[in-house]
Amino acid sequence: MDKNAPVGVFDSGVGGISVLASLRKELPGEDYLYYGDTLHAPYGTRPSEEVCALAEAAFLHLTGSGCKAVVIACNTATAAAAAFLRGKYPDCPILGMEPALKPAALNREDGAILVLATPTTLRLGKFRHLMEQYGEAAVPVPCPGLMELVEQRDKAAQEAYLQRLLSPWESEPLDAVVLGCTHYTFLVPILRRLLPPGVKLYDGNAGTARQLRRVLTRDGLLRPRSEGGTIRLESSDPDPGVLTVMRGLLDEAAAGPVLA
Ligand code: DGL
Repeated sequence: MDKNAPVGVFDSGVGGISVLASLRKELPGEDYLYYGDTLHAPYGTRPSEEVCALAEAAFLHLTGSGCKAVVIACNTATAAAAAFLRGKYPDCPILGMEPALKPAALNREDGAILVLATPTTLRLGKFRHLMEQYGEAAVPVPCPGLMELVEQRDKAAQEAYLQRLLSPWESEPLDAVVLGCTHYTFLVPILRRLLPPGVKLYDGNAGTARQLRRVLTRDGLLRPRSEGGTIRLESSDPDPGVLTVMRGLLDEAAAGPVLA
């Protein structure tokens, strides 16, 4: 495999742009090809077999474009397809995401941990297994419709959705909120405003970026930070407006808060 080839990154839409921002921060010498499967979004309310087939098509698009490794920048697609893809395509390094419940549980002081994710992520075995290990204080909160509000960049609707979602927790002790969908990282400024000051927020982005560094180093595929650094954005939706939204969110992610 060519060390100079790009790293492929995909999601059902723009959520994985938040992951891409973390990858670029950790590994600025890599070239990246980002693919948003906007035409088939959302993934998170589909049956897992459908998500698996869509994830395989996105994966093949990226490897067909010459990518040396693929990051599934989507919790839903990881839960539905990562094991399948790793089994079927063992020669390509495949990285995935999972709701960052483990660090949230290990750092918990007091109160509940809310895990916000898509209905499909929360239903599948990967998350159930995580709950068995680290779920003692965790409350899974499915968020159907929330990724669409991020795609539309409708801040007022995002805030109204989250206000409704969090209202049962107004007088309950909360320790942390886990952002178990890559779209939700873009909601951090609103969540900080709505939540009491001490509540911690977690996403899996920085952890995935560190894992990519380990895997590329292990396989002799890491490029020095002085090289590369290009980002190419693609979408399954031919509407050029989608790429404009992606570019805007990439800037927003670069300027915004980085979670552990
Ligand atoms: N961004 C995706 C995730 O991390 C899913 C959004 C969706 O397509 O429902 O789960």
